[in-house]
Amino acid sequence: TYVVTDDCIKCKYTDCVEVCPVDCFYEGENMLVINPSECIDCGVCEPECPAEAILPDTEDNLEKWLELNTKFSAEWPNITQSKEPPADADEHKGEEDKFDKYFS
Ligand code: SF4
Ligand code: F3S
Repeated sequence: TYVVTDDCIKCKYTDCVEVCPVDCFYEGENMLVINPSECIDCGVCEPECPAEAILPDTEDNLEKWLELNTKFSAEWPNITQSKEPPADADEHKGEEDKFDKYFS
């Protein structure tokens, strides 16, 4: 599966949702997540994200993100159409430690 990581927080560009063939993105206040049991591993969303927030879970140290994507995709609403990112999205792009700063 692919997972959404730290770099999405406060950016939420939502380009990813437009390309997903199985509509498996879910929206929280500060970030999106992927439902790992619905993701078919096609990989098309990865290059679409301007914040480079989407990674295959085969990369190292993504256990926390796999867990978080699994947990919140069961709680948050599905999102299938892109929308305007937050006004300050570009200011938060590439910022370090966004999970600790903003995710609660
Ligand atoms: Fe959707 Fe494919 Fe991305 Fe999985 S890898 S979230 S199926 S676009
Ligand atoms: Fe987030 Fe990137 Fe999608 S910033 S909303 S994962 S396009």
